[in-house]
Formats: sequence, structure tokens, C-alpha cells
Amino acid sequence: MNENEPSLDTLLAQGGHFVDRETGAIVPPIHPATTFARDRRYELTGFGYSRSANPTGAEVEKVLARLEGAEDALVFASGLAGISTFFETVRAGERIVAPRVMYHGTADWLRRLAERRGVEVAFFDATAPGALEAAVEAGDTSVVWIEPLVNPTWDVIDVRAAAAAAHAAGAVLGVDATVTPAVTLRALDLGADVVFHSGTKYLAGHSDVMAGVLATRSAGERWEEMKLARTLTGGVLGAFEAWLLLRGMRTLHIRYERQAANANAIARHFEGHPGVEAVLYPGLESHPGHVVAKRQMTGGFGAMLSLLVPDGAEGAKRVATRTRLFVPATSLGGVESLIEHRASVEGPHSAVPANLLRLSVGIERADELIADLEQALG
Ligand SMILES: Cc1ncc(COP(=O)(O)O)c(C=O)c1O
Repeated sequence: MNENEPSLDTLLAQGGHFVDRETGAIVPPIHPATTFARDRRYELTGFGYSRSANPTGAEVEKVLARLEGAEDALVFASGLAGISTFFETVRAGERIVAPRVMYHGTADWLRRLAERRGVEVAFFDATAPGALEAAVEAGDTSVVWIEPLVNPTWDVIDVRAAAAAAHAAGAVLGVDATVTPAVTLRALDLGADVVFHSGTKYLAGHSDVMAGVLATRSAGERWEEMKLARTLTGGVLGAFEAWLLLRGMRTLHIRYERQAANANAIARHFEGHPGVEAVLYPGLESHPGHVVAKRQMTGGFGAMLSLLVPDGAEGAKRVATRTRLFVPATSLGGVESLIEHRASVEGPHSAVPANLLRLSVGIERADELIADLEQALG
């Protein structure tokens, strides 16, 4: 990091240290304008039409680029708008390598690309050593897509090793770092070419805004294609949502720290518990990916964990309907704790164990969350 740059915590707390030149306001305005006037020479003075870019979105993109150590960043109307824009750059006949277990929306999108656009997709087993490398080498791979912690089993993928394998094959590495934001893992520093976030989750943090983020190490031809694709497909983030995203990001570091501490307390409490078959959390020393997670996650092991419970899907759903504090809802990364029977929402392609309950841990008191799970496990 540039020594003149503040730490990430300070950067976030100050929302990029914005000060409005005209008014002195320390929070950026929301610009709802959809169109922008040309000057007397008929030149645009900054912005043209809001589907290409708008001032409020540009403000949050500047902060995101600094947060990620990126040359440029783009914000989208949702995470999947960002993901589909990234994969717009893959041509028919090219090959994508991605984990078999990962966020199911991305997997569904990749299957669709394979069926409708003639793109080849190779899914690898993230728990098998060397599987990513073998999948990359088995064809003419142009894109490798990973999640450092795969959702929702939280197996760990080594980002540096994935970057080395991708680059050796002439491919680019895209990293979905939604559950491992830059306050714990800086994907571009670890070798990723593009980092993605569902801004809906930790970045915004309050379960009240949909947003997506792409940030690039260097803004070459592929990046320009993504920018153009955002304009042409229209998945740009609205001004109010951009403003909310920046507002949420100001507390990202302290929310994430508290959420990770709570998740860690819950994981340790239920490891070996008679009502639970297994706790899946990379912060536990017993987790097979713990050492790699420790190396690449410098700000804690995150706030997502899963429990495998007795009695299959029925047992899991029973627990999810008995909690009083954990809200039975999908999504993650908000300040409130959520519990979810994952196989129920993932649909027919789900590769997730039927008895898996996914917990998104919030900022409530850890002892109360533990007591809630204790009574729900009965
Ligand atoms: C890891 C991950 N990536 C991508 C997405 C998609 O983001 P969005 O729901 O904002 O479109 C999600 C949403 O749950 C996610 O958890």
C-alpha cells in the first residue's frame, strides 16, 4: 500500500475523506439526474447519461478502488449483474474453471452460459488437492473463478495458488470475495485479476440495498469490455443505492470484526456438541483449510459458518424453525443473524449436504446467539 494512503479502517470510516468543494459537506450528495448538460463547445463536462456512469456511483467506485488496491472499480444493480457482466467477456468455445460447490447463483449462471452460448465450464472439487490445477490444464482455459471460502461449506481455496495456475495457462483469475471483504482478504494483492463482491452483503451490511462490485488490478481490454457491457445491459447501480452502499461501508471494518468474533465463539461452542454432527468454520484449528485461511485472511476468519445436524433435511428445517433470534431467511452479511436450510433454496443442482444449516452471524451478543441455537437444537 502507498505510504500516503490511510489504513483501510481510516479510509472506510471517512468514506474516502469526501469534502464537497462548494458546501464543505463531508458526505457526498445523491445525484438522481439521469442526464447531464453539454457545455458551450458541445462537450460533456464529466457525465453524459446515468446508465453509463453517475456521480454518486463514481464516488463509491473511487473508495472501492482504493479499498481493493485496484486501478478501477464498477458498481452494479446487484451482485449477479456484476457476475454476468464479468462473464460477458468470455467467448463461445472458451473455457471457464470454477468450484463445484460455490454460490449457487453463479453456478446456475455458468450452466446457462454453457447451454446457450457454447462456453465450456469445468467444475472442480475444492476439497481435492491439485483439482483446480488439473481442471485448468485439461483444456484451453480463459477464466478461473473462485471463492476463497466456498459458499456454504466454507472449504478454503488458496488464492495465490489459483492465480499461479490461472496465469501459467494464460487465463485470468476472478475472485468472488463477498464473504471475505478487503478488511480480511485483499484478493488483488494475492494475485487475482478481478475481484467481485455482492455489495448486498458485508459492504452495505444492513440487508437494505442490492449492489454488485467489480474491481480490477489493471484496466485493459477485458475491463473496457465489462464497462461497455454494463452500459449496454443496463445493470448500473442507482444513485440512492450507491449512496447507501458508501454509507454502509463506513462501518465495514468494525461490523466485520464483531461478526467474526461472534462466529468464532459460536463455532467453538458447538464443536463437539452432542446436538451437532459437524461445525464447518475455517477459524477452527480442526478445519482442513485452517492454515491457508490463516495465511490469506489477515483480519479474522469471517462470520459465516455451517452446522451439519442429525436427521437430515427434516432435522435441519426443524432447527431453523425453532430459533428465536436467528431469523430464518436467506442472504448474509447483515448486522442481524440469519439461519438457513441451504439445500431448500439452492434447487435441483444443489451439491450441498441435506442436513446443512448456514449461519450468517450478526453483531448481536454472542452469548445470546449461542443460547438461541442451544434451545433450537433442543
Ligand atoms: C457469494 C455470493 N456471490 C454472489 C451473490 C449474488 O449477489 P446478489 O444477491 O447481490 O445478486 C451472493 C448472494 O447471495 C453471494 O452470497
